[in-house]
Amino acid sequence: MGPGVLTGFQKSWQVRTERPVSYDIVCSHDLFHPDNDALLVTKDERGGQRRFVVVDSQILVNYGDAIENYFLANNIDACIHSFDAGETNKSVSQYLAVLEGLDAFPINRRNEPIIAIGGGVVTDLVGFVASSWRRGVPHINVPTTLMGYVDASIGIKTGINFKQHKNRLGSFSSPERVLLDHTFLKTLPHRHLLNGVGEILKLAIIKEPELFSTLELCGSSCIKTQFQDKAGWEILSVSVESMLAELVPNLFETELARVVDFGHTFSTALEMHDDLDLLHGEAVVVDMLLSCIIAWQRSLLSRDDLDRIFSLVLTLKLCPLGEGLDPGLLMQSLTERQHHRNGVQRVPLPMGIGSHCFVGNIGLEDVSRAVKFYKEWLKSNYSADEN
Ligand SMILES: NC(=O)c1ccc[n+]([C@@H]2O[C@H](COP(=O)([O-])OP(=O)(O)OC[C@H]3O[C@@H](n4cnc5c(N)ncnc54)[C@H](O)[C@@H]3O)[C@@H](O)[C@H]2O)c1
Repeated sequence: MGPGVLTGFQKSWQVRTERPVSYDIVCSHDLFHPDNDALLVTKDERGGQRRFVVVDSQILVNYGDAIENYFLANNIDACIHSFDAGETNKSVSQYLAVLEGLDAFPINRRNEPIIAIGGGVVTDLVGFVASSWRRGVPHINVPTTLMGYVDASIGIKTGINFKQHKNRLGSFSSPERVLLDHTFLKTLPHRHLLNGVGEILKLAIIKEPELFSTLELCGSSCIKTQFQDKAGWEILSVSVESMLAELVPNLFETELARVVDFGHTFSTALEMHDDLDLLHGEAVVVDMLLSCIIAWQRSLLSRDDLDRIFSLVLTLKLCPLGEGLDPGLLMQSLTERQHHRNGVQRVPLPMGIGSHCFVGNIGLEDVSRAVKFYKEWLKSNYSADEN
C-alpha cells in the first residue's frame, strides 16, 4: 500500500455523455426584406423580441438602412454593434468590446440568438462571444465574404487571435443556423474575392478533381462575375458540400489528420507575419504551392499535375508572395502546427490531383528546396512589380 492511501475510501465516478450537434445551412436571398423571416426564425418558435446584431462595418455602410428597417418592420428591438474586420481586429480587445455591448443590451439566453453578419473575422469572433457568454448562447451566421461562405461560417470553429498566435483562443460551438446569400459577394473587393478562391482551390487540389477541371474551364469568368452567374453559384455549392463532407464526420477534430488542413501548415506563420501583409487565403495559396512542390519532390505528384496546379494559379491570378519567404519561418510554423496536431506533423500532401496522403517527416532541407523552386517559378512568371 502506498503512503497516504486510506483503505475503504476508494471510489470513482464516470461521466459519459454525447451532445448532439444540429444546424441548418440555408441559401436565402433578400435577407433584409421585411417579409423574409430567415433571420428571425429560432429553434424556439416563440422567438424573443430583441436581437444583438454584430455587423462588419463595411456591410453596415452598404446595408445599414435596410438592416434597421428590417428589424423595425418586424417589431424587433435590435442593437446593432459594428466593427472593422481584418485580421488585426480579430483580437481580445474587439472581443471585449462586443461583450461590453452585450452587457448593455441583455438578451434572453435561448430565444434571442446573436446575429453575426460579415466575413470570417466577424463570424469567428461572434461565435466565440456566443460560446462564452453565459457559457453559451445561440448565434446565427450570415457570411458576406467568399471565405466566410465556403469555409469560415459553415463549421463550428470559433476564435480570436492572442498575441501573435492565430486562433489561440476559441471554441467548438455550432451556429444555430447559417444563411448563405451569394449576392453579398457583388461588392466584395477583388483581393478578398481571390482570397476565398484560395480555399476553393484547396478543395479542388486535394479532393475534388472535377472542381479542379471546372476552375480551369470557368474559374476566371466566375471571378469576373463575382460568382453571380450560374456557373459561379455551382462552384459555391460544390465547395460548401465538399467542405461539409470533410468537417461533419470530424466536427470536434477528434481525428487530427485532416484533409482540409492542406495549405494550413506553413500559412499560419505567414499570415501572422506583419511585414508580409498576407490575407488568410493568400497565405494558404503559398502554402499549397510549397506543399505541392514537396509532394512532387517525393514523387507523390507528377510533374504534369504540378504544372497544371501552378498554371491554374496563374490563370486565376492568385497573387502569390515572392519576397520574404524564409525557410526558417516556415519551419517555425511547421513546429507550431506539430504541437497543434499533438506532436506529429500530419501534413496533408496531394497524391495526384484529387487525392492525398499525410506525411510526418518534412525537414528544413525539403522546405528550403521547395522555397528555391518556388522563387524561381515566381521569377519566370511574374514581373518584379507584381511581386
Ligand atoms: N472558423 C473557421 O473554420 C475558419 C475557416 C476559414 C477562415 N477563417 C477565418 O476567417 C478570417 C478571414 O475571413 P475573411 O477573409 O472573410 O476576412 P474579413 O472578415 O476580415 O473580411 C475581409 C474584408 O471584406 C470586407 N467585407 C466583408 N463583406 C463584404 C462585402 N460583402 N462587400 C464588401 N466588403 C466586404 C470586410 O470589411 C473586410 O475588410 C481569418 O481570420 C480566418 O482565420 C475561419
